[in-house]
Amino acid sequence: MRNVLSLIAAAMLACGPALAEDLADPEEILTARHGYMLMMAMNLAPLGAMAKGEVPYDAVAAGRAASSLAALASVDSSMLWVPGTENGVLDDSSALPEIISNADDRAVKFAALKTASDAMATAAGTDLASLQGAMKGVGEACSGCHKPYRKSE
Ligand code: HEC
Repeated sequence: MRNVLSLIAAAMLACGPALAEDLADPEEILTARHGYMLMMAMNLAPLGAMAKGEVPYDAVAAGRAASSLAALASVDSSMLWVPGTENGVLDDSSALPEIISNADDRAVKFAALKTASDAMATAAGTDLASLQGAMKGVGEACSGCHKPYRKSE
């Protein structure tokens, strides 16, 4: 047991500092932020396609995508909005500096996304009309933050 514990301690010492440094690296934070946004988009996509009638309504798939989106919306993403990771500092970022400095308003925008995603999670598996009814709120929650805080192409 003692040996196992000292092995674990050694492993943590070996990985710990390197990992902490990587995770504080602005490029890594940006990668995580893009991944977070893409995860949301990938769960929203099938819901949007069903809402528009591009793919047949599937209650199970819709319910799963909507619960994943709601779970993502409830993540504390504050570690992704760090000074030095915004557009103008990092070329690959489209985040305007204000989304980092206006932490209170950012929280309001994420709270709106959570409310809309929770409503979608309730509606999506019920029937197509309910899914369609919840779509507008989610779309508005995404664009409600993109408009003020994401640089347009
Ligand atoms: C609170 C603000 C906020 C909310 C809410 C939000 N986004 Fe974003 N999103 C951003 C910002 C800022 C960027 C630019 C990030 C960057 O490039 O640094 C972004 C970027 C993206 C990107 C591009 C990612 C990339 O790889 O360049 C996608 C896709 C995206 N968002 C999808 C969504 C979807 C879908 C929703 C709603 C379900 C959503 N976002 C909700 C702020 C938000």
